[in-house]
Order: sequence, then structure tokens, then C-alpha cells
Amino acid sequence: MTSLEQVSTLVLVPQVAEAVRCPVIAAGGIADARGLAAAFALGAVGVQVGTVLMATEECEVSPAFKQMMVRARETDTYLEPRGRAGSRMFKGDFTKTALQDLKETKSPTVPDLDLVQTGVGQVTGMIRDVRTVAEVIDSMVGQARKLLPGLISNLS
Ligand SMILES: Cc1cc2nc3c(=O)[nH]c(=O)nc-3n(C[C@H](O)[C@H](O)[C@H](O)COP(=O)(O)O)c2cc1C
Repeated sequence: MTSLEQVSTLVLVPQVAEAVRCPVIAAGGIADARGLAAAFALGAVGVQVGTVLMATEECEVSPAFKQMMVRARETDTYLEPRGRAGSRMFKGDFTKTALQDLKETKSPTVPDLDLVQTGVGQVTGMIRDVRTVAEVIDSMVGQARKLLPGLISNLS
């Protein structure tokens, strides 16, 4: 769930890390090595990813919904209020156009249940293809290992 205040990960995680005495796991908008590295810099010891793992071969969401994630930009979602929090979903306009296009390319249809129930993060805008879970995690961790040491040169 997402806070209705929509406080970004960049603003939230450092404050949580300051306020608590336990390890902090950052979540929200993290899809690759850059997000992982940023989360460490913000004070987290690890990350939880959601949306990027839905766009994997192993995920049980429909293949057509995965294609919607590949196609979507970060502005194609909105926050649907649910009580004191909310779920981020694809916007109606985007859904309509994407479904029409998918129909024309003879892709499998998106089950109604997926459209009604499946949340999706803004990070969908960073998803370029459907990969395996191993590819997602390996590239995230492997590239972060290479990325992090090089960042120090930005300070000089
Ligand atoms: C399909 C889906 C269902 C989720 N369901 C819940 C939920 O029931 N409760 C909750 O607190 N967070 C839920 N989340 C949020 C995730 O646990 C995670 O914090 C979030 O997806 C991380 O942000 P990201 O999608 O940008 O990686 C869900 C996320 C997705 C993608």
C-alpha cells in the first residue's frame, strides 16, 4: 500500500533511518542497481521490490499485463484511495489504449481480474522487457557492485 501523502522514497527512507534503531528496508520505485545503490546511501540495509518482479517470466500475472508494464510510462498510473492508504493502478486511458493495441497484435487478453486487482508502481516506466527473476536480481546486485565504488569520484 502507498501512503496517500505520496512521500517519495528519497524523502522517507533517510527520516525512517534516523528515527529507528532497527535495520531499514527501502521500498518504492526501486527497479535496478541505481535504485539499490541509492537506497544504501539513504540509510537502508536492503530493498524490497514489487513491480519489477511482476514483470518476470515466473510471475503469475497474465503475459498481457506484463506487456502493459513494459509499455507504460511512469505517468500512466494513479493512486486509488483505499481507506487511509491507497493502491497504485494503471490509469483508465492508458489501459484502454494498451488493451486495444494488444488486441490488434493478437496478444493474449488481460483477464479482468488482473486489471481490477493488480497494483503497479510508477517504476513501471523503467521496465523495458520481461526477464527472469534471476536476471532481475543478478543485474541489480551485480551492477550495484560495479556502480558503487565509482560514485566516490563524483565528489572530487
Ligand atoms: C501486486 C502488488 C501487490 C501489493 N500488495 C500489497 C499489500 O497488500 N500490502 C502492502 O502493504 N503492500 C503491497 N504491495 C507493495 C509491495 O509490498 C512493495 O512495497 C512495493 O511494491 C514496492 O514498490 P515498487 O512496486 O515500486 O517496487 C504490493 C505491490 C504489488 C506490486
